[in-house]
Amino acid sequence: MFPLTFFQDEASLIVQGVMSGFIGQLPVRVVAIPFQILPMPAKKDMISAIMKKGNTKLTVVGAGAVGTSAAQWAVQRNAAEHVVLVDVVEGLPQGKALDMAQSAPVCGYSGRITGTNDYSETAGSDVVIITAGLARKPGMSRDDLLGKNVRIIKDVTRQVARYSPDACLIVVTNPIDAMVYTAFKVSGFPKQRVIGMAGVLDSARYRTFIAQALDVSPSDVTALVMGIHGDNMLPLVRLASVGGIPLQELLPEEEIKAIVNRTQNGGAEIVAHLKTGSAFTTPGLASVEMAQSILQDQKRVLACAAYLEGEFGIDGVFLGVPVVLGAGGVERILEFPLNKEERAALESSVKAVKRQVEATGL
Ligand SMILES: NC(=O)c1ccc[n+]([C@@H]2O[C@H](COP(=O)([O-])OP(=O)(O)OC[C@H]3O[C@@H](n4cnc5c(N)ncnc54)[C@H](O)[C@@H]3O)[C@@H](O)[C@H]2O)c1
Repeated sequence: MFPLTFFQDEASLIVQGVMSGFIGQLPVRVVAIPFQILPMPAKKDMISAIMKKGNTKLTVVGAGAVGTSAAQWAVQRNAAEHVVLVDVVEGLPQGKALDMAQSAPVCGYSGRITGTNDYSETAGSDVVIITAGLARKPGMSRDDLLGKNVRIIKDVTRQVARYSPDACLIVVTNPIDAMVYTAFKVSGFPKQRVIGMAGVLDSARYRTFIAQALDVSPSDVTALVMGIHGDNMLPLVRLASVGGIPLQELLPEEEIKAIVNRTQNGGAEIVAHLKTGSAFTTPGLASVEMAQSILQDQKRVLACAAYLEGEFGIDGVFLGVPVVLGAGGVERILEFPLNKEERAALESSVKAVKRQVEATGL
């Protein structure tokens, strides 16, 4: 009797040999001519295969802290086949892109990343993440950035729209709810293809603080933050849950209030620590989470600043709401009934956003 042998090469399991014996009274003989058991393609490989067909292109405008983080997450997660990093500062996007490209052999990703100051190299992008503009320093509010960033967003949007007329725009620059409105007006793109990033980040902060309070995995915490990206944001307590259990059953009201408050000031807390700028790692990741859902038609349900036309009783502003993000951008806004307090909080968000939008002069 020669037992079956199993040996593995890099990609498969090889089985060969002869085995004989008895099953009960019955003599049996198994002859295995060498054959290979190939593994199921990993999810990552399947995604790359889909992307190969589509030849996806993602541009990140602004090679500062958030833009660099977004580009890094994008290549690492194989979000697109080609990532282009753009900035006004000569050499900055080229140097950063080259540095990131050199981590590919170590990390094992295959996407291409290039840096440029020339928007013609962004032509035909499917998604453009816009992070260009000033960031907060201690003592500054997001509104303090408005004047200068409006000019930057107008300039960037014109260039992006010229070379990528079919792209989805994800605006990250603050104050986000007014900047996304600016990009919407200047680009002339349909509302489905202009989206602001804030809710994914704010919800991630909310989930993190809940997880820390309960000493549980953050990935088991589900929570939603709606409204403006500012002090009036609305971390929904009623809908937050941990492994399916309502948060209100697990933590006392006072502790939940403190978490809500910390979430609303989550950006300022980081600015106070850093002193020279604002958060960038998770903001970059959050924008890539959105981009990936569009590029790979994942239909993720994510909190995003979307243009509202009557949803939640709100009209004519961008505001953070739960949306379905797919190949067409915002495919649906998921509307649900709010209670009196939630509605009041959302209305104060709307007032604050309208003040910001007025200040843009658009
Ligand atoms: N929406 C959010 O949740 C969120 C989170 C964090 C940061 N932000 C915002 O993102 C923006 C960027 O933050 P950061 O920390 O990366 O700032 P940063 O100063 O590190 O980088 C900004 C980059 O933009 C570039 N830039 C300026 N004008 C440009 C133009 N016309 N075209 C191309 N590039 C241009 C600058 O050269 C710089 O490299 C800020 O407005 C910040 O407030 C938003």
